[in-house]
Amino acid sequence: MFIVNSPVVETLQVHENIFIQKIHSPEIASIIKPGQFLNVRVSVNSFPLLRRPFSICDVNGENIFLMFNILGEGTKILAKKQKGDLIDILGPLGNGFNLEGEYKNAIIVAGGLGSAPFPLVTRIIKNSKNILSLVGGRSTQDIITYGMQNVQVSTDDGSQGFNGNVVQLLEKHLANIDNKTTKVFACGPNAMLRALKDFCIKNNLDCEVSTESAMACGFGICQGCPIESTTNDDKYLLVCKDGPVFNVKDVVI
Ligand SMILES: Cc1cc2nc3c(=O)[nH]c(=O)nc-3n(C[C@H](O)[C@H](O)[C@H](O)COP(=O)(O)OP(=O)(O)OC[C@H]3O[C@@H](n4cnc5c(N)ncnc54)[C@H](O)[C@@H]3O)c2cc1C
Ligand code: FES
Repeated sequence: MFIVNSPVVETLQVHENIFIQKIHSPEIASIIKPGQFLNVRVSVNSFPLLRRPFSICDVNGENIFLMFNILGEGTKILAKKQKGDLIDILGPLGNGFNLEGEYKNAIIVAGGLGSAPFPLVTRIIKNSKNILSLVGGRSTQDIITYGMQNVQVSTDDGSQGFNGNVVQLLEKHLANIDNKTTKVFACGPNAMLRALKDFCIKNNLDCEVSTESAMACGFGICQGCPIESTTNDDKYLLVCKDGPVFNVKDVVI
């Protein structure tokens, strides 16, 4: 884990309210695992006080990429960073997706900004696994397919692709899914992850989910990001240190 002041290479607006930020950070780029995150201090001023967590979207050589939308002050400041501006980054943090294993088919399920970690996941497994990427959103402007492969889309309002949610779209594929050779990787809002958990348990599908929580330290000190465990004697795990990626069976979402 490093704390580094890394220069922004560029900030691109790739979609309505969606930004991809390329940051030159060789120390972090060389050790990143897919699904890990960074805790970013967006300003040298005391406001906003806390760092903001962002998934590592992609890595290319010595550069790392973040994907974010403007939600509040932190992301507003981040979106204004230009070439050469320094960003104070802590990372890489947490445990990522386990992409190893004998499975042949990877199904990626992403809701809204939950697409953020999957360009790197796709880059790593695209030559060894068959990928089906299911991307959902409330409406067409919430669909983010950047860096993904073999994509099918669902929207709640039917404005693009399948009319329904992304777990219902997954359900449509059930007849063609062999649960012995398939693994599901997911990230998105809790309601989506809950429905996905029910679906995967019912259909005996191996599934890892990237979860979110409010965070402060980002590495297990402040105890500010508990998630209820289904297996751990301590009852709670920490999203930042034990996650953010968990096997869906191991946590209460
Ligand atoms: C492990 C992890 C990975 C993440 N990866 C990404 C990513 O790749 N891209 C991205 O855009 N965001 C990501 N997030 C969420 C991101 O951290 C928040 O969107 C960001 O902190 C918002 O900062 P802000 O200062 O702009 O908004 P704030 O001023 O902090 O918040 C504005 C409003 O949004 C709400 N809010 C803040 N965070 C969240 C959240 N996580 N879920 C729902 N509502 C929230 C607040 O309650 C408030 O109402 C991730 C979060 C975690 C925990
Ligand atoms: S954010 Fe501090 S323990 Fe998780």
